[in-house]
Amino acid sequence: MTTASAPGKIILVGEHAVVYGRPAIAVPISKVKATATVEETPRGTGCIIIAKDLNRTIRVAQATFDDPLAAIVRSTLVHFRAQDLDATITVSSTVPVASGMGSSAAVSTAIARALAGHLGNTLNNDILAALVFEAERLYHGTPSGVDNTVIAHARPVFFVKNRLVETFAVKSPLRLLIADTGIPSSTRVVVEDVRKAREANQEKYDAWFRQIGQIALMARAAIIAGEQFALGALMDGNQWLLEQIGVSSPEIDRLVQAARQAGALGAKLSGAGRGGNVIALTTEQTQDTVLNSLRHGGAANVIAATIM
Ligand code: PMV
Repeated sequence: MTTASAPGKIILVGEHAVVYGRPAIAVPISKVKATATVEETPRGTGCIIIAKDLNRTIRVAQATFDDPLAAIVRSTLVHFRAQDLDATITVSSTVPVASGMGSSAAVSTAIARALAGHLGNTLNNDILAALVFEAERLYHGTPSGVDNTVIAHARPVFFVKNRLVETFAVKSPLRLLIADTGIPSSTRVVVEDVRKAREANQEKYDAWFRQIGQIALMARAAIIAGEQFALGALMDGNQWLLEQIGVSSPEIDRLVQAARQAGALGAKLSGAGRGGNVIALTTEQTQDTVLNSLRHGGAANVIAATIM
């Protein structure tokens, strides 16, 4: 029996602009994770995936080409030139779905890793990220690749589409609160809406994306230097730009306000927007006050995570 897991993630700055080639910063959230276990079964039984949380049982040989869970199994087997797997792959996950925490990428990553282990191999993180990216396309259409990258590397990343990933050191721990609006957000739908809005007003949108890219560059410098106040201000600036782009919502705005009023250094939506999560950067001293304020502000759930 082989087991592997993968963390969730949040995007600190740069979502949406990253789809148009601008940089983004994402960090792993190890408090939530997906786990996959591979168990050998008798010869001829084939490969079955049991996804408990999704209430799905999939026979890989019979699954359609566009089934993302079967796809990650197939592509991992092809990568290792393995044939005819007789095994049960059991998947479970504590990563909230449709909330910008990378649940699909975490599940695919855990499966690919567990399968590699089962075959007596390991996957390097870049190849793992590439295999998961193909499965992500089946879920999300045209993903930038940031989710699979940060989750495979399980380290903070400075990500630019189609470029080699850069990891970097976090000088002083980032205390984040991840507050769920309780409203599911479809990355595919929101990204498509932004694409249409940009088509109608390209100059404006490209200027906003450019500014978000500059924020990501400055945020990386702030994190490396341990300048938390600067990072908070950059997150607030990023939220304002995301509002202009049209991906915030009244629920997000309410949580952002709740965090800021309680003394957060900065707060913004994270991920596709319209729902999903709001992230707030706090200090050790303000963490509890901000957490309570987010709860009173209507957060369905709040996760505290420290990024080192
Ligand atoms: O909702 P998430 O965490 O999958 O993030 C979406 C981030 C976008 O930049 C909006 C899309 C992407 O593919 O990067």
